[in-house]
Amino acid sequence: MTVRTSADSGAGESSGAAGPGPAGLGIGPDDLSDGLVVADERGRVVCFNAAAERITAVSAVHALGAPLERALPLEDLEGRRWWQLTDPYGGLAIRVGQPERNLLLPGGREVLVTARYVRSRPTGPVLRVVVSIRDTEARRRTERSHAELIATVAHELRSPLTSVKGFTATLLAKWERFTDEQKRLMLETVDADANRVTRLIAELLDISRIDSGRLEVRRQPVDIAAAVSRHIQAHVASGRPAERFLLRVTQPLPAVWADPDKVDQVLSNLLENAVRHGDGTVTIDVEPTDPVGASVTVSDEGPGIPEESMNRVFTRFWRGSKRGGTGLGLYIVKGIVEAHGGSITVGRAPGGGARFRFMLPVAAPAYLNA
Ligand SMILES: Nc1ncnc2c1ncn2[C@@H]1O[C@H](COP(=O)(O)OP(=O)(O)O)[C@@H](O)[C@H]1O
Ligand SMILES: [Mg+2]
Repeated sequence: MTVRTSADSGAGESSGAAGPGPAGLGIGPDDLSDGLVVADERGRVVCFNAAAERITAVSAVHALGAPLERALPLEDLEGRRWWQLTDPYGGLAIRVGQPERNLLLPGGREVLVTARYVRSRPTGPVLRVVVSIRDTEARRRTERSHAELIATVAHELRSPLTSVKGFTATLLAKWERFTDEQKRLMLETVDADANRVTRLIAELLDISRIDSGRLEVRRQPVDIAAAVSRHIQAHVASGRPAERFLLRVTQPLPAVWADPDKVDQVLSNLLENAVRHGDGTVTIDVEPTDPVGASVTVSDEGPGIPEESMNRVFTRFWRGSKRGGTGLGLYIVKGIVEAHGGSITVGRAPGGGARFRFMLPVAAPAYLNA
């Protein structure tokens, strides 16, 4: 056992958490992510784990043997000393502890603290005070990122709605003053903006499913090469020159068990990005992989993605160029691929452009029967 955990030299009763942990597993207080501080019946610190050191910035060497209020000088938000206020050793003998509270460490660092009083018998003297300290920084970070997400979403929804509102208000107020051609133009803009809002909402719903692990994957055999070919044909049918696309398939390809709609969503995003953000020929390689599965590589000859931004392309709302859409596409693509047990990478194509490669495993039959 380490110096920090000399807890067993205290009173005979073990507080459980301060002991060496489940026999044979080698789990100790230092494995906890929460700070753990234990004081004996005299209020002297007998355990100060690694997380407590990290959170309080006090070393165990200094804390061990010191009075609890010195090793852990906590104050409540009004600046009152918490140990004096709660008086674990002298207070009501029926107290079993203190519920979770937001307290301050010297220097103003906020922590969440709970204390448990261990007594030999229900109203007997306190043998141990077991204090758990949680860092609130991680929670704050998630709260901040939620707030940022809401702000971004609100902003993304507002710009098309502002345009919809502007054009409809103008048309309603001055209907007679516009020619049919002008009215048509305005309505087309309104229509496009309404589509944008609808798309954005669909993407946000996808994101919420991905983030909460509720993305449903309805598997069936999918011929990936045929799916890619269909997407290319759709681009050509909508007026893009056929020479912009090159499809190369390496046979034999296994049929992967995947959700065809989701695979379509992935292909559509990657091809659209290659055409819109990239340039030149878009080359799509479909190959078998080891372990058994299939990979699709989409390469273009455009400007590519700067080295320093490569780790950001898969994050929400990241947009590298002004030609961008919502910046949600690749985040969703990654979520879908990973929900299939696959993976996706970004790199530089031999021709200088961007190269996205995703791999889908052939799902094991045992999984499908489940
Ligand atoms: N093939 C590509 N070539 C260059 N940049 C790309 C390519 N694909 C994606 N990007 C960059 O990654 C960003 C994020 O892509 P994405 O998540 O699909 O969002 P969006 O297409 O809505 O902007 C894009 O804004 C673009 O800057
Ligand atoms: Mg996109």
